Amino acid sequence: MKASYMLSKEMARKMILVHPPEPRKELLLSSPSQGVYIGKTRFLRTPVFWDPNKLINPHIAIMGITGSGKSYTVKTFLTRASLIWNTNAIILDWVGEYENWVKQAGGRVINLAKERLNILDLVGLPKRSRIKQIVSALDVLADLKNYPNERDDIEEALEQVYYGAKKESKKDSSTESKAKKTLVDVVTILENSKKKKAARLLKRFTAEGTDFFAGTSTMNIKELTTSGLVCIDLHELPSEEMRSLAGLTILQYVKELMRAEGVKKDKQIRLFVVLDEAWKIAQDDRSDVITIVREGRKYNFSLIIATQNPTDMHKTIFSNIGTVFVLRLILKEFRDYVRNSIGYSTFIDDEISRFGVGDAAVNMIFSERQSRVMTFLMDKIDGEEPLLIYKIKGGDMIVEIEREQFVRMLYEIGLNEGQLAMIKSEFERGDGLIDGEQFVAVLEKFGYSKPSIISFLRQLGIDEKNLIKVFSLVRMRKATKGVVNVILEDGNV
Ligand SMILES: Nc1ncnc2c1ncn2[C@@H]1O[C@H](COP(=O)(O)OP(=O)(O)OP(=O)(O)O)[C@@H](O)[C@H]1O
Ligand SMILES: [Mg+2]
Repeated sequence: MKASYMLSKEMARKMILVHPPEPRKELLLSSPSQGVYIGKTRFLRTPVFWDPNKLINPHIAIMGITGSGKSYTVKTFLTRASLIWNTNAIILDWVGEYENWVKQAGGRVINLAKERLNILDLVGLPKRSRIKQIVSALDVLADLKNYPNERDDIEEALEQVYYGAKKESKKDSSTESKAKKTLVDVVTILENSKKKKAARLLKRFTAEGTDFFAGTSTMNIKELTTSGLVCIDLHELPSEEMRSLAGLTILQYVKELMRAEGVKKDKQIRLFVVLDEAWKIAQDDRSDVITIVREGRKYNFSLIIATQNPTDMHKTIFSNIGTVFVLRLILKEFRDYVRNSIGYSTFIDDEISRFGVGDAAVNMIFSERQSRVMTFLMDKIDGEEPLLIYKIKGGDMIVEIEREQFVRMLYEIGLNEGQLAMIKSEFERGDGLIDGEQFVAVLEKFGYSKPSIISFLRQLGIDEKNLIKVFSLVRMRKATKGVVNVILEDGNV
């Protein structure tokens, strides 16, 4: 009796000494139909819900080193948000890590490298405003501010393209009809008027292979903002500059759509705009990320921004974000930046540097007045293990198998935990897909014989013809060890 009394007294003392304050339960708790469940606080185990009705604004920033769980947090969040509110989301996917998940979640994936987005499209904007926007995108990307003469030339050429051809019938030029103008026309005007330098600045967006923004649009952004979950995959665009131009242009359109929707009284989120690793466009105070952050609350547009490097995030963005998730951060410089922006104790700062995957320090600014804003710890973002599909490419065919089932099969043939982890990481590196020969090489390394590997591949559903192909490639790899151009002979498996 006495011992337990002492123990609990000891515990109580420890709690007071050690555990930092957590927000009041009423602020964190919400009904599952009104808020997105995130996980539990570390000390009082209070369930944490993200409820836009209680928060000062609906924007979210997530920061942490690679592998700390940023994208996982976004995915968990969007999955639950769409169950509750049926919301729309546009993910600007810089590195191509959302594609599989979005497909599995029943969303749409748009590979921008296979599309065209004419940056001269007006999407309902007055011409004058669109010209301003294009020039401002070029300010960010082509550093036009440092070329004031060329900047003027380009602006003039844009005006000429939109208004210029006076002979054209007025009807035609006001609607976005067949003879749509593109950046190519702007370059032509510049060249014809001997504005060579200005033309050159633009040409990198019109040359073959980099003309994603200089053709007739194949996608309808407005429709995409109301199509449920949409991933705009930018990673196959050839350069960071192209990805940024795409990102900026899409955000400009989103901003216009947002303003056109008008101010909303309720707090039901219309659209989540997700920027994962969008460093360049989050850094620049001319980018529309800032406008969306500033005005989004009125229109119920929510920005979710994730980054490895918090200093990439412009101060204005930081100071206008209602919810910040700090996952593991190692670099002191980054931690100091975050700490100066949202403020928390040395204890929390220290914890952040030691976090495991998914652990988070969360800062929420509630609309209800509080004595002070509080950053609290969560043990782990309580995510839903997604139903992951692994794909193995065997010759001409790709077999798909659910991860859990695949892992069970590998257990059955005797792989240990360490070996399974290696295989999982191979799949993760390939975004869920690996080549058959690569898989065979790993199994061989683990000491499996050829016949047992063959029988495993058969079990997975790879047919005989493709088994031959896989093993030919294995043989070729072994023979060449990196030397290319070996003639592939047909052989028996
Ligand atoms: N809260 C969590 N619970 C369980 N597993 C998690 C959690 N967060 C992340 N993971 C797992 O950790 C791995 C890395 O997570 P994730 O891809 O989200 O990292 P990231 O921060 O986006 O990294 P990068 O900056 O490289 O994109 C993934 O395999 C993911 O499934
Ligand atoms: Mg990520």
